[in-house]
Amino acid sequence: MKKIFALLPIVLLLAAFTPASKTVSKPVADPVIPADVQALLDKNGCTACHHVSRKLVGPIWPAIAAKKYSAKRITQLVGKPEPANWPGYPPMVAQKVPKAEMTKIANWLVGLK
Ligand code: HEC
Repeated sequence: MKKIFALLPIVLLLAAFTPASKTVSKPVADPVIPADVQALLDKNGCTACHHVSRKLVGPIWPAIAAKKYSAKRITQLVGKPEPANWPGYPPMVAQKVPKAEMTKIANWLVGLK
């Protein structure tokens, strides 16, 4: 009997954190970031401030993609940010990213919808 009471709080906790309905799906699925690009975003620290659907310190990736920059321009802006492009955001600190990695990230952003 004692055991059941010991388990009760755990069961209640689990119930509290289980979504009420599993059939409710998000209206729009997050764009999937290819694993190799995600690895570069993680490695270079971009993930700390940019997410694909949640606004963190910086704008979400699709919002940046919506600016329709060329890969070259994206590379320029990451190395030398122009905070005036993003009113309401703190200025991004210039990021040092190895060239080949930056090309890969930039090309991905260009193709992101
Ligand atoms: C400390 C937080 C932070 C980190 C780390 C960070 N960013 Fe940003 N980023 C921002 C903010 C804030 C903005 C918007 C303000 C600005 O552009 O200065 C931004 C803007 C951008 C833009 C849009 C530039 C423009 O002018 O439209 C690009 C592209 C970008 N980030 C890419 C990256 C990449 C790639 C990395 C990783 C190498 C990265 N960011 C790391 C905070 C960050």
